[in-house]
Amino acid sequence: MVHQIYRRNLDKCWNCGFCTEAVSCPSPQACIGCQSCYLACYREAIEPIKQKIKPEITIIVDEQPVSVPSQVTIKTALETLGIRFSRFPHSPDIFAPCQTGGCFSCLVLVDSKILRSCHMPVKAGQHIQTKLPEDFIPHRIVGWYSPHPVGGVGTPGSAKNFGRSRFSYIEVACFTAGCNLRCKTCQNFDTTYNSRAPAVTPHEAAEILTRLRKKYHVNRLAISGGEPTLNRRWLTQFFSELKSLNPDPDARLHLDTNASILTPDYIDELVLAGITDIGPDLKAVQLATYQIITGITEPTLARQYLETSWAAVKYIADYYYPNQIFMGVGLPYNAAFFSSSDQKETELHKWGARLSAIDDHIQVCILDYRPTFRRRDICRPSVEEIRYVKQLLEGIGLKTVIAQTKLGHLPPIQPAPDRLKHQ
Ligand code: FES
Repeated sequence: MVHQIYRRNLDKCWNCGFCTEAVSCPSPQACIGCQSCYLACYREAIEPIKQKIKPEITIIVDEQPVSVPSQVTIKTALETLGIRFSRFPHSPDIFAPCQTGGCFSCLVLVDSKILRSCHMPVKAGQHIQTKLPEDFIPHRIVGWYSPHPVGGVGTPGSAKNFGRSRFSYIEVACFTAGCNLRCKTCQNFDTTYNSRAPAVTPHEAAEILTRLRKKYHVNRLAISGGEPTLNRRWLTQFFSELKSLNPDPDARLHLDTNASILTPDYIDELVLAGITDIGPDLKAVQLATYQIITGITEPTLARQYLETSWAAVKYIADYYYPNQIFMGVGLPYNAAFFSSSDQKETELHKWGARLSAIDDHIQVCILDYRPTFRRRDICRPSVEEIRYVKQLLEGIGLKTVIAQTKLGHLPPIQPAPDRLKHQ
């Protein structure tokens, strides 16, 4: 039986240091195949190699002694026993969406410590419990706290600084490590693939963000990523904490998300916890485009993510928007996502038509994807190109289209709807 481990190809490596400074290797002496450095390396200089499974060791899982291979992650060891892990939440599987050590969703109890199963080596004699104590306090890697002059996808156009000073802030934000998508154009890869920064509780993150709100005299508090929704327990507690630290009616609690696991019950829970603004990215409407943008190669999983994100927008539009929460939708754009201009036009038309059918007043923010991470070969779209996409969506009937460009944001031709629209 063989197992995949990873080696640095020195001919491709640029010695940028990312795989050691941002990625914390759980087993530097002997690779256990966790993939964290492999997925993070933008030069793709870390390559998989096959290795014979190492001799078996004995561990105790849920009170039963069992034999598992050595020199693998706890997750891989548990998988050899038939314990299932999934990248879309399915009970009773263990949810392991990022597999790079950032989200802290794949936790198990190991010798009384709660550890990331995807990011820890299995060791002889370990006592592992696959069920966590009911009262455990969630942690995850969150940081990069900063003020923002234009906000994110879920920031209403009326609050954005169109053409004003870039030093006039409207929002404070923090960012989560770990993402379930594998976008080659990840615009935030240094956060997404970080497994070294300290993990914090929801209360700790909410306190820091609240302090930042006071420092910058803003009313908007946001979380983005990586993908913030991956650790549901952490995120809902974070918004509850944020709400109790910011009880005033001016406070706006904002989530930006790829919405790929945002099911209706999860949305209800977030609204109950206190979110007021949400920015789901609808990365594509056609499966093939979605797979190109997100790097999710398994069609079944990609379809599940794609359809969940669209269903989330529809659910929010039907039940919460605009009276209870504000929603702005993101559309990542770069011509490199498409193999031909026909394919691009078809995708954009279908995308616009599907959103229009949900509600043509929903704010859209076109995001001009710049060259970064594994696609440094592409060009940032010109302002003219983004203006063309904006006009195309407006031509389909979308009323509130904003666009991010290298020269700043282009405002909508109509403001986002007021809160009484559906009353
Ligand atoms: S799946 Fe293990 S930390 Fe995210």
